[in-house]
Amino acid sequence: MATMEQKGATLQELAQRHLWLHFSRMGAYGDGHDIPVIVRGDGCHVWDEHGNKYFDGLSALFCVNIGHGRADVAQAGAKQAEELGFFTNWSYAHPRAIELAARIAGLTPGDLNRVFFTSGGGEAVETALKLARQYHKLTGNPNKTKVIAREIAYHGTTLGALSATGITALRAPFEPFTPGGCHVPNTNQYRLRPGYGPEMLADAVEERILFEGPETVAAVIMEPVQNAGGCFTPPEGYFQRIREICDRYDVLMISDEVICSWGRLGEWFGAQRYDYQPDLITTAKGITSAYAPLGALIASDKVAEPFMEGNASFMHGFTFAGHPIGCAVALANIDVMEHEGVIDNVRENEAGFRAMLDSLRDIPVVGDVRGAGYFHAIELVKDQDTKESFDDDESESLLRGFLSDELFRRGLICRADDRGDPVIQLSPPLISGPEHFEEIEGILRPTLEEAARRIRG
Ligand SMILES: Cc1ncc(COP(=O)(O)O)c(C=O)c1O
Repeated sequence: MATMEQKGATLQELAQRHLWLHFSRMGAYGDGHDIPVIVRGDGCHVWDEHGNKYFDGLSALFCVNIGHGRADVAQAGAKQAEELGFFTNWSYAHPRAIELAARIAGLTPGDLNRVFFTSGGGEAVETALKLARQYHKLTGNPNKTKVIAREIAYHGTTLGALSATGITALRAPFEPFTPGGCHVPNTNQYRLRPGYGPEMLADAVEERILFEGPETVAAVIMEPVQNAGGCFTPPEGYFQRIREICDRYDVLMISDEVICSWGRLGEWFGAQRYDYQPDLITTAKGITSAYAPLGALIASDKVAEPFMEGNASFMHGFTFAGHPIGCAVALANIDVMEHEGVIDNVRENEAGFRAMLDSLRDIPVVGDVRGAGYFHAIELVKDQDTKESFDDDESESLLRGFLSDELFRRGLICRADDRGDPVIQLSPPLISGPEHFEEIEGILRPTLEEAARRIRG
């Protein structure tokens, strides 16, 4: 219960007492270790409650693609709230959802023309998995329920999406969940398994479909560039082969683009970057540049068709999905991207961003640099020649004991992650350019050099 004691309490005190952070060790706060409280943003930078400035090298969790502080985009949301604050997409439509669905259909590859809105990415994945099941039921294949995903991939935290998520630490506390989640190797080409060539990675999907029985497999879900594990890009021809396999066994191909769409890879959609045609795309985050929450599942005409006939309906929905404010903000966000050449900026500067990261390879702790567009990771190793990685304790003291805090202290928000091997991830706002890369390097280089010295002991 709120008490009078709260009067006069600082934001920090209230946060430590009442706010529950996601994926966070709450016990780590207190005793002088503060929760970072971010209060303001402008362009590529944000400021904390003490007035310290940070470069937002993660676009606030891969979201704020057009940068912070856009009053015009905020205004689009405010204007919509005045006109029609809310109406639902359950059996009704409203102008902004209609306009946005049509606008999205105009940007997607091929016949991905039907848009089912959600409130975020996990809901979009959940929606895709359910749609795949019902699609197969409607088309005479009721036993097609399983989904094939990749090891260490993150597809969200709802129980259905979690069955596709391939990160053991995130799954273990909640098992059992929706049956049918199967995993195959990801495209980590820095650490290919012995005997595995890059061209064999797609074959693993076919082998798994055959092992499970094609009549039981509903869908394959993959990100264009896999985030968790550190920006795994596909080998040449990978997605074309996945497409062939999906067609052969009547399996739907879901491109999970919660991160990889809206310019992140230098295209509207990640599938366009790698020239493949999925049956379903899941998206969120950059769709509004996170000025309001919104996600979407985009379905091909083929997949939508059985739901558009007779008495059929997709038995699924969320009250807030396709919220008018989210849709109005998304339209304004797409306007900004189009009128200000945001995606062109990524294409023009991607090589410079990559060159800056590659220039760090002389630091002994830098093992690999990989990614695409404005979505890259640096894998950290103990030994560059042998690629020896860190054990759990070393990784803990390197990432949590030093790098995360030190990068933040020096003014860079990025992700130091060890859901696979330890990596640092960078995913700056899509409006950033060479001067920002210099700023990132100015913080990353000395911090990684210090990390290397500490490892050498
Ligand atoms: C590829 C992918 N899918 C799904 C999700 C879940 O999205 P949300 O956190 O909006 O539920 C994420 C979140 O980062 C993601 O990266």
